Amino acid sequence: MQHSLQCINCGRKYDPRQIVYTCTECGDLLDVRYDYRDLKHSFDAGEWLKRPLGVWRYRELLPVDAFNPVTLKEGGTSLQICQRLAQKLGLRIVHVKNEGENPTGSFKDRGMTVGITKAMDLGAKIVACASTGNTSASLAAYAAKAGIRAIVFIPSGKIALGKLSQAIVHGADIVRVKGNFDDALQAVFTMTSSNPNIYLLNSVNPYRIEGQKTVAFEIYQQLGDMPPDNLVVPVGNAGNISAIWKGFKDLKELGLTKTLPRMIGIQAEGAAPIAQAFHEHKTVVEQIDNPETVATAIRIGAPVSWKKALQAVRESNGLVEAVSDREILEAQRDLARLEGLFVEPASAASLAGLRKLGTVGAIEKDEVTVCIATGHGLKDPDIIVKNYELPPEVDLDTQPLQSILKLPEVML
Ligand code: F0G
Repeated sequence: MQHSLQCINCGRKYDPRQIVYTCTECGDLLDVRYDYRDLKHSFDAGEWLKRPLGVWRYRELLPVDAFNPVTLKEGGTSLQICQRLAQKLGLRIVHVKNEGENPTGSFKDRGMTVGITKAMDLGAKIVACASTGNTSASLAAYAAKAGIRAIVFIPSGKIALGKLSQAIVHGADIVRVKGNFDDALQAVFTMTSSNPNIYLLNSVNPYRIEGQKTVAFEIYQQLGDMPPDNLVVPVGNAGNISAIWKGFKDLKELGLTKTLPRMIGIQAEGAAPIAQAFHEHKTVVEQIDNPETVATAIRIGAPVSWKKALQAVRESNGLVEAVSDREILEAQRDLARLEGLFVEPASAASLAGLRKLGTVGAIEKDEVTVCIATGHGLKDPDIIVKNYELPPEVDLDTQPLQSILKLPEVML
């Protein structure tokens, strides 16, 4: 699709064939821009229903050559109606968009299919990212599919085992950085800025965000051509909340909706610089030096896309809230036990946030709310083993099942 790249601050435009991640003039973030008037004439949303649900259904709104995508069939995830959960929260309806169903188990695949396709368009032979785990797993898989080399920087000892296993098995070159995610991101920025042959695929790359915005289109269609009242999403580096907001705004630009959801970002208390800035009515987010949370995916102190995120929240009349690790783990258990959905801790943050906001009346009972469950629970089995009692070992010769399982008496 015809598009241009533009700085969100000074408005400087860039040629899409140029490799650039941030504005060379003022250093701010870039955004992909379309001519919506032109688009309105050239496409028909009815066409979407003829294609399978997924990222590439929406190819008119993606900035790459959609006829030759590097794809593992990403997107098309289910929107679960969670009645038992809603009842527990005192709300009428809660939906969970289960992004763990993506090929590598997280929403990152939506961005990576577009990002890697763009990398191939540009002729890149090496791609790189820093990651708390999911981006590296996704990058490694899509680079493997494309037949190019992947380099990933991860904070040593701070990524969940499932995610590390994925990056290893897909053959990425892995650099375990002594430090946290923010240090790893600085290292990959330094490497890619001095070596233009390595294409950076962190969410600062505006092409990745374009893929991630498709979750908004899917939710709109799954709700029957209607955006929800509230969209609740966990926030780490803040790319995803920016992406989803862009998706909903695209729908409005195209005349497909008049209303837009309130964007509600949820951070973990120990890693909540954006929530802090929001609560203190600040226009600039100050970084946190030693972020800490059980939700390792969002253990980030210096979120790159903070400006886009704050914009999304303020434009949509939304908010950013922080939740404790205990609240996150409780929400993870509720999703698993009430709804049969196993999500990783960071994903459960959105539900934990919804509960907190419901309790203080910030969410109305009858509003339609969608929580994004960003990644699969199997990514981080350690957290379960650490926080739950392991089942006892039994000797079936000496311990009758009846006493172990406390089975109900059989009535003869
Ligand atoms: N949930 C999960 C499961 C994640 O992996 C991430 C980010 C987020 C939420 C937050 O999204 O950063 O766009 O605000 N994970 C990145 C990674 C940082 O490296 O995998 P965000």
